[in-house]
This record gives sequence, C-alpha cells and structure tokens, in this order.
Amino acid sequence: MTRKIVVTSALPYANGPIHIGHLVEYLQTDIWVRFQKLCGNTCYYFCADDTHGTPVMIRARSEEIEPEQLIARMQQEHLRDFTGFKIAFDNYYSTHSEENRRFSEMIYQKAVEKGAIHTADVEQAFCEHCKMWLPDRYIKGTCPRCKSEDQYGDSCDCCGAHYRPTELVDPYCSVCKSPPIRKNSKHYFFRLADFEPQLKEMVHHGYVQESVRNKLEEWFQAGLRDWDISRDGPYFGFKIPGEQDKYFYVWLDAPIGYMASCQNYCQQHGLDFDQVWDNDEYELYHFIGKDIMYFHALFWPALLLCAGIKTANKLFVHGFLTVNGQKMSKTKGTFITAETYLRYLNPEYLRYYYACKLSAGVDDIDLNFDDFLQRVNSDLVGKFANLASRSGPMLTKKLQGRLGSLDQEGRELINKLQAEKEAVISDFEGLNYASAIRRIVALADEANRYVDQKQPWTTIKDDPETTRTTLTAVINAVRILTIYLKPVVPVFAEKIEVFLNIKPLTVPDVDTVLEEVEIGTFKRLVERVEKEKVQAMVEESKENAAARQSKVELDEPLALECTYDDFMKVDLRIARVSKAEPVEGADKLLALELDLGALKKNVFAGIAKAYKPEELVGKMVVCVANLQPRKMRFGVSEGMILAAGPGNTEIFMLSVDPGAEPGQRVR
Ligand code: MSP
Ligand code: ZN
Repeated sequence: MTRKIVVTSALPYANGPIHIGHLVEYLQTDIWVRFQKLCGNTCYYFCADDTHGTPVMIRARSEEIEPEQLIARMQQEHLRDFTGFKIAFDNYYSTHSEENRRFSEMIYQKAVEKGAIHTADVEQAFCEHCKMWLPDRYIKGTCPRCKSEDQYGDSCDCCGAHYRPTELVDPYCSVCKSPPIRKNSKHYFFRLADFEPQLKEMVHHGYVQESVRNKLEEWFQAGLRDWDISRDGPYFGFKIPGEQDKYFYVWLDAPIGYMASCQNYCQQHGLDFDQVWDNDEYELYHFIGKDIMYFHALFWPALLLCAGIKTANKLFVHGFLTVNGQKMSKTKGTFITAETYLRYLNPEYLRYYYACKLSAGVDDIDLNFDDFLQRVNSDLVGKFANLASRSGPMLTKKLQGRLGSLDQEGRELINKLQAEKEAVISDFEGLNYASAIRRIVALADEANRYVDQKQPWTTIKDDPETTRTTLTAVINAVRILTIYLKPVVPVFAEKIEVFLNIKPLTVPDVDTVLEEVEIGTFKRLVERVEKEKVQAMVEESKENAAARQSKVELDEPLALECTYDDFMKVDLRIARVSKAEPVEGADKLLALELDLGALKKNVFAGIAKAYKPEELVGKMVVCVANLQPRKMRFGVSEGMILAAGPGNTEIFMLSVDPGAEPGQRVR
C-alpha cells in the first residue's frame, strides 16, 4: 500500500546565505523524500524562507533597501543554491506571504479565545539612536564577572559566565555603540504550561528520537514557562491584530510558514489543503537541527494543539556539522557557502559524503577533507562508476551494445544484490544512511570481484558470447546499485539510465532484470575529486570572510549626528612640522611639534607606520587647532593633524601648498 507523506525542513533565515552546515539538513531531507518517491509513495517536500525578525530589518537598513527587497533577493539566492545541490522541493515559499499572515492571525485568535494569551509589562533595552528595541544578542558590554570588554548580552566568551543583559557593565547597542536605555512595554505571552500534559503524551508516544526525548524530559522537569510572542515596532513581521505597533515574534509565524507553503502548493495544484495538512490520511514529518528543538517540540505543537490542528507524526532531529573536527570557522576558511562550494566541486560529492556520515541520532557529523577525498574517490568513482566503465564501453564497442541473458553465476550475483533490498529500504526509512551506504558499497565490492574473476577483457578475445553473459550480469549489478544510490546521487543515476537506455528507475525495479536488450553508449559518469580544488575552495572562503569583514566596516552605521554648528566649531589651521620623534613604547605614534606661527602645539599622531620622522620635519600639514587637549600615556596631545586611509602604512596626510602661511585658517 502506498503512503501519503508531507515533509518539511526548517526554514532558513533570510538574512544570510546557505552554507554547508545548513546542507546537512536539506540533503538529509532531500534524500529521504527522494527515497519515498522512488518507493512509489506520494511525498511532498515543503520549505520556505524565514523572513521576519530583527536581523533582517537591520541588514536591510544597512544596505539601505526595504526588507521586502532584501528577502526577495535572498530567496532567489537560496533557491539557486538549493537547485545547485539538487534539493528538490515541491514548494519553496516565504513566511512573508498572505497565506502565512492569515494562518498566524487565525492561530493567534484561537489562542486568545482559549484563554491561552495574556499580557504583561516587560522591561527591555531600547536604543534611542537606532530607534529600536534590542534583543539580547544586540547588546554588548563588559562582562560583570571577568571584566572582558565587547561581550554579548547573555554570556561571556572569555570566562563563560551567563548573565542577563541588565548585568553587563557599560552596555551598548552593538549596531551604533551608544548606551541603551531601559523601558517598559506591554508584551503578549502564550501559556505554554497549559499544554504540558498533551505535550508529554506526544513525547512518550514517539514524537521524537530517544536521545531527544531525554532532553525534553529535562525541560519538563525544569517547568514550562510562558512564551513571549510579541515584539514592539520597529520590527519586520506581522502586526498583532488590534495593535498599532506590536508584531508577532518571528518564531511564532516561522513554523506556521510550513502550513503556508503547503497551502500555496495545494492551491496551485488543485489539492484540498485541509486534507493534505490536517488529516490522518497524510503522515507529517519535520526535519530540524538540534538547536531549534525547543521550538519544534514544545512551542509549535502547543500552538497547534491549542488551535485544534493536527501535529506532526515525528520530528527528525540531526546534529551539527563540524569541519575537520572543529566548528565552521570564517578565518580557517571552513565556513563554506553553498555558492562557493559549487564553484569548485560537484554537488554529488557532498551528497554522497553526508550520506556516508548520517545516522538517526543527534550526534554532530564531521566533514573531514581527507576522508571526503578518500570516500568519493575510492567508492563513488573507484567502485560504482568503475563497475559501469568496466562493462559499458566493451559491450558497446565489441558486442554491438546488446545484453544477453544471465547464467547461473550471474543469477547468483544478482540475487545477492536483490536480497539486500529490504535492508536498504529500512536503512533509508530509518535515516540510517551510513548503514545503507555500507551495504551498497559491500555489494559493489562483490560485483567488482565478480568482474576480476571473470576477466572479460581476456575472454573477449576469443569468446564473445561468454563475455556477453558476464557483462550482462555486471550491467544488472550496476542497475540495482544505481537504484539503491539514486536518492543520494540523482544525477549519477540519471546518467546511468541514459547509458542503459531505460526509463527512470524506481525501487520496485530491483526485482526485475535486464536481458536481451540494447543499451546506449557509455559516457563518463563522475570525475575524481582533486585535492587542489578543495584547497582552492577553502582559500576562497577565507577571502569571502575577509571581504565581508571589510564590508561590515564600510557598512558601520554612522555615529551620532553632528550638527552644522558642531562642525563649524572645528578650527582648521595650516601648521609646519617643526619636530618629529618616535614615541618609546608606542610603535604607531609619532610625537610632533607643530608651528602655527604665533603658537606651538604638541601632538601625538598615529602615523608612525606611514611616515618617517625625518621626512616630516618642515612639511606643511592641516591641524585641528581648537581640539580639547587630551592626556595620553605619553603626555598631553594638544591637537590633531588631518590624515586618512585604511591604516598602518596606508595613511595619507592632506597635502598643503608649501607656500601657505603657518597659522592660516583653512576652510
Ligand atoms: N529560521 C530558523 C528555523 C525556522 S523553522 C520554522 C533557523 N534557521 S537557520 O537558517 O539558522 O537554520 C536552518 C536549519 O539549518 C536549522 O534546522 C539548523 O539547525 C540547521 N543548521 C544551521 N547550521 C547548521 C550546522 N552548522 N550544522 C547542521 N545544521 C545546521 O534556525
Ligand atoms: Zn543603536
């Protein structure tokens, strides 16, 4: 009996690119969906961009575009990347859609009717310069425990302390650096604890994997707290009905985006949404990473229970990606975007590699580049592709491309491959891809041994018909292995289908054999991975990180407004450098004596990397003459000279007509 299934992956944030960490999830899901489809099941794969929230708003501001423009561009980029990796959504939508607004309002309204919503005043940080409320991540300051500077509002990177943003010493807005104020405002809360018995019930009946269940038990133990579902404007999101400047928190409408994507699909394809989404006829599964378990195991099902909408059959939670044993790192070049990867490597390498590593648990998975090269080259190229290239060309060139029929031994080989069908199916079904791949590799080894033993390259010389029989067995082995691998490497599989001149393979085809037919011509299936390509990809990722870094500096928001009157206070004068000396203990500073005609000034200038003292003496410069004197470690600095540049050796002083008079005013 065929099944009907709806599958989702978590909705990627619209404020950044897809990277190889995300791909663990989208590839895990895509493989599962493809597998279901190949089994003949109806399976829909829905996803969308997660568009709302503070980061999207801030990024749009910094690019000086509307959030709508930003999310439209990100959606295109995300889709381009997913398509590049052959991730085949049935629908890829957006949480910033009418469907999603309607569902969000409806679910909220139900919660209001059920008495599951209450309001309370909350004191929160607000930046008067940016005119926005600051989420914890946007407040920085000095750690109250170890006094390290520039720490985030919730925890310290240096000493590991956890605290509340209110406890930070000298807190500041991470966008504009000005100190936030604290203000009260009304927030809406969802009474999560009302749903505890039903949530527990779900968890005890297989809603999550065992390892996740333990985590949930801890959360139940700790007690479920009310959930703040509102944010004050300015915010990019959906307005709360009946409110002027309050919005749904992004995490309220994000999972509802699953439904919106499904409804949008149903509408385009003449399907009844209620039947697909809210009916036991269809199974429903969410694939997510372990970092967003709380939302999917508690908040999301509680909202659905409250609204009387069906909850998922199961969550499939996966672990996080590490690269060469460590967290992805921009400076190491292991924060690799999908886009960069695709510029250097075949997407099927990564599909295959992740499949080799994925199992049903929540353990992190490691992408080790040496292991990656090894698995792709020795298995994908050396075993699977090799089997086809050892049989196809010979059949075409020497035996008119015609298959014969299987003899006893050939049958036995094929029987062995067919016999693993149920085990492979159950591995894919249970997300044990690593185990499936191990089985398939073992079968490929078996088939390669068969070729070694039969030596078709020798028998072809004087016994073409025996050779044809041998190669018929090999081709049938290739065909079955291809079916098993097809969810993982769909492009590879398609090339084999073209080569064998057959219709797209499905799982039931495992039980049939190909005999007495003509095959097509063999074309190369897949190239070896080159180590240099991997290195080049890592190098580019380092450069990307550096480029982003300097862009952040360029995009750094403006400092507090300087009024015209403020500016007119600055008194700029021509000065002649009368003395210039290095400063002991400060290799960037020069101590300058400036001659302004009637008066002299001592100035410490950070230009030592760019100018030698001796070349400065006698030079005409522009000086800020009325700057308040500032005490420095080395003495008092009584002014500033005008110079600009990226820093270090690249600092340039304003060039001044050598005939100018010291003390003369510059306008
Ligand atoms: N927008 C939320 C999800 C809302 S779902 C209603 C979100 N977005 S995300 O872009 O940060 O992550 C999308 C998915 O990718 C999540 O399931 C997350 O766990 C997964 N991953 C993001 N980085 C990852 C790794 N480094 N490794 C493995 N999975 C990772 O969360
Ligand atoms: Zn600010």
